[in-house]
Amino acid sequence: MADSNCTHIIYFFCILHVPYIVFASFIPQDRFFIDCGGSEPLELEDGRVFEPDCGNSHVSVSKNSVVVLSEPQVTASNDLNLYNSARVFGETSVYNIVTKQSSGQHWLRLHFYPSENPNYDLRSATFSVVANGITLLHRFSFSNSGDITPVLKEYVVNLTGKSSKNLVLKLSPWNGSVAFINGIEVVSVPNKQFPSSALPIPIESEVEIPPNVAFETVYRVNMGGPLITPKNDSLWRTWEPDEPFLLNAASAKSVAGNPSSVKYLSGVSVEIAPNWVYATAQEMADANVTSQKFNISWGFDVQDGFSYLIRMHFCDIVSTSLESLVFNVYVNEESALDTFDISSKTMVLSAAYYMDFVANLPSRLERILVQVGPSNLGGFPSNAILNGLEIMKISNLIGSLDGNFPTDEIDSKSSSKKNWVVIAFTSASVALVVLVLILAALFFNLQRKNPKKPKRQFSSWLSIPTHLGISDSKVSIGSSASTAHSLGLGRILAFSEIKEATKNFDEGLVLGVGGFGKVYRGVLENGTVVAVKRGNPRSQQGLTEFRTEIQMLSKLRHRHLVSLVGYCEELNEMILVYEFMAGGPLRKHLYGSDLPPLTWKQRLEICIGAAKGLHYLHTGAADIIIHRDVKTTNILLDENLTAKVADFGLSKLGPTLDQTHVSTAVKGSFGYLDPEYYRRQQLTEKSDVYSFGVVLMEIICARPAINPSLPREQVNIAEWGMNWQKKGKLEKIIDPHLIGSINLESLRKFGETAEKCLGEYGVERPTMGDVLWNLEYALQLQEASIQAASAENSANYFPDIPEWLPQNENHSGEFAAIRSDQGSDATSSAVFSQLMDPKGR
Ligand SMILES: *[C@@H]1O[C@H](CO)[C@@H](O)[C@H](O)[C@H]1NC(C)=O
Ligand SMILES: *[C@@H]1O[C@H](CO)[C@@H](O)[C@H](O)[C@H]1NC(C)=O
Repeated sequence: MADSNCTHIIYFFCILHVPYIVFASFIPQDRFFIDCGGSEPLELEDGRVFEPDCGNSHVSVSKNSVVVLSEPQVTASNDLNLYNSARVFGETSVYNIVTKQSSGQHWLRLHFYPSENPNYDLRSATFSVVANGITLLHRFSFSNSGDITPVLKEYVVNLTGKSSKNLVLKLSPWNGSVAFINGIEVVSVPNKQFPSSALPIPIESEVEIPPNVAFETVYRVNMGGPLITPKNDSLWRTWEPDEPFLLNAASAKSVAGNPSSVKYLSGVSVEIAPNWVYATAQEMADANVTSQKFNISWGFDVQDGFSYLIRMHFCDIVSTSLESLVFNVYVNEESALDTFDISSKTMVLSAAYYMDFVANLPSRLERILVQVGPSNLGGFPSNAILNGLEIMKISNLIGSLDGNFPTDEIDSKSSSKKNWVVIAFTSASVALVVLVLILAALFFNLQRKNPKKPKRQFSSWLSIPTHLGISDSKVSIGSSASTAHSLGLGRILAFSEIKEATKNFDEGLVLGVGGFGKVYRGVLENGTVVAVKRGNPRSQQGLTEFRTEIQMLSKLRHRHLVSLVGYCEELNEMILVYEFMAGGPLRKHLYGSDLPPLTWKQRLEICIGAAKGLHYLHTGAADIIIHRDVKTTNILLDENLTAKVADFGLSKLGPTLDQTHVSTAVKGSFGYLDPEYYRRQQLTEKSDVYSFGVVLMEIICARPAINPSLPREQVNIAEWGMNWQKKGKLEKIIDPHLIGSINLESLRKFGETAEKCLGEYGVERPTMGDVLWNLEYALQLQEASIQAASAENSANYFPDIPEWLPQNENHSGEFAAIRSDQGSDATSSAVFSQLMDPKGR
């Protein structure tokens, strides 16, 4: 840098004498300020005028809404009058805002305040909000927050593709509640405001941030300074003071410079942050005492499982000479900037500068910790500063900014395809800014990042669960492959790679065909044997399940869950690549194949393995995960008969703390469906427990869950098994292969466990943890009896050879289609007669 200092200085003078004229000229083409339910224009103190939402040519709103007014506030500020009116919706409704700018990112700000009114209890209103296919709020409600203050939510939504001129805001009341909104702001985002790539934490090569993601501003903080209101921000942003986030207030000292002396150089426009932000900072208390060794730390509560864009604003307002402030920056205790010298980037003091990082927050980590502290380099005064900080949540792979709820749960129709777009500049002033920026960037070699580094795709980086670096998952793969690759953090695979692995989807390699498509055996280039599940040509339904599966599996890693090796979403293909399970589905080992029958001990171990997998799903991750499709074909075995739960395409995140269930359309497999879920469409983890009860019955009886060719009372294994179990005679219907080797007590314990799982109501059923415990006990009973038997010669063995009921030839064909009629008098009396005279029919 030393060799070119002179040129830099010359050019700085050119720029610095015209800074504001050039850089402050961004005029957002779209500036909509909407007062929902308002009747006349409302001017705020910052000069913005909020227009009523009706009679506005750019705004249309569903007809079925109601305007709710509350008493005008008598306050010093006119601004609160925005909350005097709200629009309330009793059913899913939309605001359609037709923008002027043809495409591109827009700030979307939503105002909510549950004002008192005689007709609606807005405080307990619960609703979801989706904007152009992105879930912004999922079952949002004020009822959980103690004191009620207006809520302002800010998002950045990219308008792309066909709908690029429409911002469609959909509000969906939840379960009989209402939705409401008080105000909406839509403001164009300057080009290049948000990066297309950023450095990940921990630092590695840059990660691409796809253009179609949406952001939510979760924190925007002005270090060491006051609250900056929309009045002092050309794009009407709010910057809050940092004191509430400082972990140790005594470690920091606020400093302030003159806002008008803040310099904006190339690449940093005044739209990045106003000079009021750069003019204040926190520095180390008792700065410049060389012996000082501590960090200034800020903690921010965030939702786990998301990625965040973290933007740090720096401006050296504390030094008196260049190269005298060198410090370190950490994010979540990982180094973000090491021996960082702002002046080496800006070449002048008091110049605005910012750095972007992306942090992938694993589940259960719910805080972002930002620290600045002295560098370890000797010879510099101990000091460190930070001027401003923005933390933006990035929408996840299923297009959500609030939990893992894909928008289809709320609305199955909206499926705005996200495409790359070229942002068209229609405004000469914007073009001018860009031109100047480009020229400036050419003249000054002030690139913030090294563009030569290869960029990694965001989604592949995303799916790597950083907290699971060392996995306990045992991967069953072909002999030649090392397990190293197959710790199997889901990665993106090229379609060509998959084609090669499966010999161009050779029919001879088909392992099975499922609802989703065909499954092939494949061998990756590195020798890993994999199962390749190729989706049927794109259906929206398939796509949702595909995404859900990636989403779920990339967060989960467990010895008893099948792990995802990678996936491919290229050329309209949806392909999932899993570890290969040599033993195939459990069902094949129970009936309908030539495989040798499993011993009782093997069956118990398989049940225990699968129960561990489900127990982990229900309790191991931050959110409860409900599998929804537990059955013997979704329990796979590896070459050592270790059971793993597979197929997460229907999985759902379970109820959160304040809910008891998730309401959802009934999905799952016939014969395994929880009757309570079926009747009430309310899903809890106990629905999986029920399905697991069916699996237990299938394992001990070695017959399908539903066999329509059997007499009516035998068709459904859950009913049939339960009736025998309740009589204490489950042994009458067990797999004949088990006779003579199964310990009666172990069988009793197993039968009781299955019975409890099949309880009519979820509350009666045990948790998977209890099920696991009972199955382990059943295994101990079996093992103890084997030991006893070898000692005392089989005294404890199940003595009685049960009367095996031959499959009846009487097929009436009228089988009970729906489980919910179980227990009706007709059924139980039929079973009763069966019990009295098992061979009678
Ligand atoms: C906002 O700007 C006005 C001038 O327009 C200035 O007097 C005031 O101090 C600023 N306030 C803050 C908090 O920056
Ligand atoms: C500052 O924090 C980082 C990460 O948490 C830590 O490694 C470092 O030792 C701390 N520095 C000082 C001086 O305490």
